[in-house]
Amino acid sequence: MTEAPPAAAVQRVRDGLVARGAVDVLPDAFLAGVTRFARPPQPELDALAAAARGLAARLASGAVGDEDLPLLTRVVFFAGHAGVLAAAGVPTPAYDVLGSYRDNLTTPVGPRLPERPAARRRWPVLGRSVGFPIGVPACVLNGGEAWVRHHAANGWNVLTYKTVRSRAHDPNPQPNWTFAARETAGLPPGAAADVTADPWDWVPPGSAAVSTVNSFGVPSPAPEEWMPDLERSLAAVDDDQLLLVSVMGEAADAAELVADFARTARLAEEAGAPVVELNLSCPNSRDRSTAGVRPPLCLDADATVAVVEGVRRALDDRTGLVAKLSWLDTGRLAALVPRIAPLVDGIAGINTVQTRVRRSDGAPTFPGRELAGLSGIAVRASALDFTRRLVGLREAAGARFDVLAMGGVTDPASFAALFAAGADAVQSASGAFASPYLARDCTAALGETLPRAVGP
Ligand SMILES: Cc1cc2nc3c(=O)[nH]c(=O)nc-3n(C[C@H](O)[C@H](O)[C@H](O)COP(=O)(O)O)c2cc1C
Repeated sequence: MTEAPPAAAVQRVRDGLVARGAVDVLPDAFLAGVTRFARPPQPELDALAAAARGLAARLASGAVGDEDLPLLTRVVFFAGHAGVLAAAGVPTPAYDVLGSYRDNLTTPVGPRLPERPAARRRWPVLGRSVGFPIGVPACVLNGGEAWVRHHAANGWNVLTYKTVRSRAHDPNPQPNWTFAARETAGLPPGAAADVTADPWDWVPPGSAAVSTVNSFGVPSPAPEEWMPDLERSLAAVDDDQLLLVSVMGEAADAAELVADFARTARLAEEAGAPVVELNLSCPNSRDRSTAGVRPPLCLDADATVAVVEGVRRALDDRTGLVAKLSWLDTGRLAALVPRIAPLVDGIAGINTVQTRVRRSDGAPTFPGRELAGLSGIAVRASALDFTRRLVGLREAAGARFDVLAMGGVTDPASFAALFAAGADAVQSASGAFASPYLARDCTAALGETLPRAVGP
């Protein structure tokens, strides 16, 4: 479905809701969604209820106009009818934040373009020749075959299959992901943030000023489930698209941790992964012993090097290896990169930034977890800073690894900034969540002019 002009889109959404018999119950369904995890303050809730009731009345009488589209999108999304919006070509967040991780695994949300957007040229990424070098990094937006197909069709060419493990791992309890609507600007690199985010927060789709916070706990299906799914996902991408696979290990003991990373990487290789990415950077993996949240592994350089070495030894020489890092300060990054550079084909970063996150009433947004991962525009400056230093270290060492940059890419300009800093491919999680047409827009804006293409 192509993007429709607002008036036509509103009409299509109205028809879809009428067909589902959803108009009369829309306000109640919306309020159920908004209060699913916590209750907004009464005045805010009253205002939302009044707005939804007014909208439903206009939908019932047919008096809706294109000025209703922003409210309509929010109400219909939280009422659980995102499919109606997608079918009408209306951009929505790409993931159903009210649904569980499992519900979402097979059900990408948001419109799909009738034709994959494509540039005429190709770019070199990890030894392949790929279409416009934008992609979706490891996250729930690449949780399985349906997602990979969805994003590949919408022009995301460098996809990383969501981090998988050597055994099934349940997600944290919901909520797992919310907008951080108050974080509309970049924080200084490495700055600690105290974020206020409510589960009912909303950022209009397509907004370049989007930030999000998440606390999934790096869930994974069992290998018996993800390996066949990965095989099908690999078969679903075109020749000029690349699907990497993110893996992580888990163990209290250092040697066992290396072994578990290596075991999982081998399973990914067995399923056909051309490139394995090591998730050395997740800020919200749960520490079972303390019920807290562990710091990212890459803060421990020795442990990180041991994992990268162990996995490189375990994999076939033809399998590519990427290390994904979180934002590291100057000293830490400069100490780590020369040690892993000879072992990897790529370095990816940044991950989300570990942040204290509270609701506006002061309670933790993610009950039981004070800390969660912040991403989107709030971390854009951190990503640019990290990428510049990483590329500088690559040059200084005469190393050959590719750089997969991500963090705060929400529009063509933020894509271009990371590419200009020396990234070989650029990925977007929060931007892809908020803006399903982002790959198309970047391809259209930059496809003819982006440097370092390999032809024609
Ligand atoms: C909901 C969500 C889930 C994520 N899950 C993973 C994951 O499983 N593995 C991983 O390496 N990074 C994960 N990430 C981090 C992203 O891949 C990316 O590094 C980060 O979000 C910064 O990019 P952004 O600003 O475009 O969102 C996740 C991010 C989000 C928002």
